[in-house]
Amino acid sequence: MNESRAREQAASGGVSGASATSVPAPVVELRGVTYLIDRQAILRDVSFSVQRGEIFGIMGLSGAGKSTILRIIMGLVRPTRGQVLVHGREIVGLRERELNEVRRSMAMCFQHAALFDSMTIAQNVAFALRTHRRRRMSRAEVNETVSELLDRVGLHGVEHHYPAELSGGMKKRAGIARALAQEPEVILYDEPSSGLDPVVASVIDGLIMHLADDLGVTSIVVSHHVGNLFAVANRVMMIYDERVEQIGTPAELAEAGTDVVRQFVRGQPTGPIVV
Ligand SMILES: Nc1ncnc2c1ncn2[C@@H]1O[C@H](COP(=O)(O)OP(=O)(O)O)[C@@H](O)[C@H]1O
Ligand SMILES: [Mg+2]
Repeated sequence: MNESRAREQAASGGVSGASATSVPAPVVELRGVTYLIDRQAILRDVSFSVQRGEIFGIMGLSGAGKSTILRIIMGLVRPTRGQVLVHGREIVGLRERELNEVRRSMAMCFQHAALFDSMTIAQNVAFALRTHRRRRMSRAEVNETVSELLDRVGLHGVEHHYPAELSGGMKKRAGIARALAQEPEVILYDEPSSGLDPVVASVIDGLIMHLADDLGVTSIVVSHHVGNLFAVANRVMMIYDERVEQIGTPAELAEAGTDVVRQFVRGQPTGPIVV
């Protein structure tokens, strides 16, 4: 079975393998997660699960708590209530050492690429390689792997450039190459297309889909750009008023969205969403 079929099947909750009764365990799952800061609710009773190989989108207004959800999945923020399972393992309450073990399987692509300004693109990726790979790599092996990773994200001839010399889209690609250096099973993308022009944003979307298909990597994509999210995601969750408003395929949300989802998706000025 090819990866995209596997992804569709996973996304639809389908079963694969010999046993027809075993539904694959989600790669990431939140159960009733509530997060309060100074008794103020940031997230309330949030539950969802992401299947292996799926591209799961999270949308919502600015400040809805999307990035916070990613931080919770990474174990960087501890929810006030609820469970967070990564590869079926509860991570809330784990010691830092065990958390680091879980984090190893996940890579985060930050909104602003978060590259080291004083390092070239190649050095940035090489740094990630050396930090995350368990075995020692020779210099030649590092160089070769860096080239492969930059190739994978379509970056050519900029190995020796510094981040400041690159366009926004190139920086995003470099950030993705650096994430891939970790050989992650899960990639978390925070606003991958924000700040990019629409054409470059679509190219990044294409890259996200290509990596999911090619590497079978599970992807969680946070964005407030509905169009981009609907283009890449198998399923999308909308967060509104600190809660899960709705979860569905882009088609389901477009056709049978709640009033809130419909207003958000269509970008209408009036409706239940008051900004
Ligand atoms: N460390 C923090 N201290 C206080 N408030 C925070 C903190 N982190 C996030 N918030 C608040 O939590 C809410 C959600 O933030 P965030 O997850 O960044 O939203 P989004 O990514 O959807 O724009 C915002 O109202 C933000 O102000
Ligand atoms: Mg955010």
